[in-house]
Amino acid sequence: MKKLSEVTETFTESVIREMTRICDAAGGYNLSQGFPDFESPRELKDAAIAAINADQNQYPVTFGEPELRAAIAAKAKRYNRVDSDPDTDITVTCGATEAMIATLMAIINPGDEIIVFEPFYENYGPDGRLSGATPRYVTLHPPDWRIDGDELAAAFNQRTKAIIINTPNNPTGKVYSRAELEMIAALCQRWDAYAVTDEIYEHILYDGAEHLSIASLPGMQDRTVTINSISKTYSVTGWRVGWAIAARPITQRIRKVHDFLTVGAPTPLQHAAVTALGLPDEYYEGLRAHYSEARDFLLDVLQEAGFSVSIPRGAYYSIADVSALMPAFGANDDFTFSRSLIEKARVATVPGSSFYSDRGMGRTQVRFCFCKRWETLHAVADSFRRLDALEKVRS
Ligand SMILES: Cc1ncc(COP(=O)(O)O)c(C=O)c1O
Repeated sequence: MKKLSEVTETFTESVIREMTRICDAAGGYNLSQGFPDFESPRELKDAAIAAINADQNQYPVTFGEPELRAAIAAKAKRYNRVDSDPDTDITVTCGATEAMIATLMAIINPGDEIIVFEPFYENYGPDGRLSGATPRYVTLHPPDWRIDGDELAAAFNQRTKAIIINTPNNPTGKVYSRAELEMIAALCQRWDAYAVTDEIYEHILYDGAEHLSIASLPGMQDRTVTINSISKTYSVTGWRVGWAIAARPITQRIRKVHDFLTVGAPTPLQHAAVTALGLPDEYYEGLRAHYSEARDFLLDVLQEAGFSVSIPRGAYYSIADVSALMPAFGANDDFTFSRSLIEKARVATVPGSSFYSDRGMGRTQVRFCFCKRWETLHAVADSFRRLDALEKVRS
């Protein structure tokens, strides 16, 4: 038999899916995968059902139903201060996931480099390889996930085609500041590079943090692709509706790739997404208030259990350092620790090394997510409390 694709040979099974599987088998609490286990908003479910009953069931306009593109453009102007023409600058995709791979395939040529901050959202590595780009990694330094300006500047060169930004950030909870985005924008302009920004957590912010889109900075609109989706903001991760906003020449290429990859995102769910984007301000305030409370609760539980947590300013994850707990769990790395945590506490996390190119950098870290119902979070708290007692008895 002829050899299968060399690129895909290097891919490993998503660690998050693996943890989910082990967790399900153990009947545990899944704090690994970033999807809500609570109900999606009633209005959205009604809108989706109404769209199906109204027979919005055939292929959509490939690059997105006009009503949805208009709603995206209006929202981008209002919330992100980004101007876009719905006819020429927006592509509706199957989630932010497709928007990212379609964007990279639309802009990358052999020999091009992309800059990726690490720890990173685990799809960016395979996305880069599938598009043929060579990644260059720049470290976000704990505990506040700071960017070292010299390290960033050193990563740019003639071959740099794009930099991937994710703010608010998965897995760190970092919200990029204006100064950081201005520094990135200046480097993009100096080296003629694109900014590809994944802003899927833009409404999930804490402690007065503010979201800023790099496309709104001077000189950046024409060289930025702004990616988003309804998955996280509206708790509908299974609907697979996202989008990319970019200047016309880039959008033309993204639309071509998108057309061949998927043809279009589900038609009735695109119509329901129009309802989502029209929800009132109170919806977003409620979302923030809920996640804020969940964050504080889980961080307290984790600290009490002995985890050294980093405090997220956005998104719904926290990275914890587990060095101090590793001996008690008979673990010498993040993987054995995560497996042992599922066995002993029935709590699933993501091993930290899956967020780094140099796996050693995540060896003492795990990521928790807290987009879960109160029942789940309380069950986790109880489990840790019991485990704590158990560990004390054992030692
Ligand atoms: C940073 C980031 N981007 C994209 C995605 C996936 O987005 P979508 O469901 O819209 O494909 C996730 C999901 O966890 C994510 O954390």
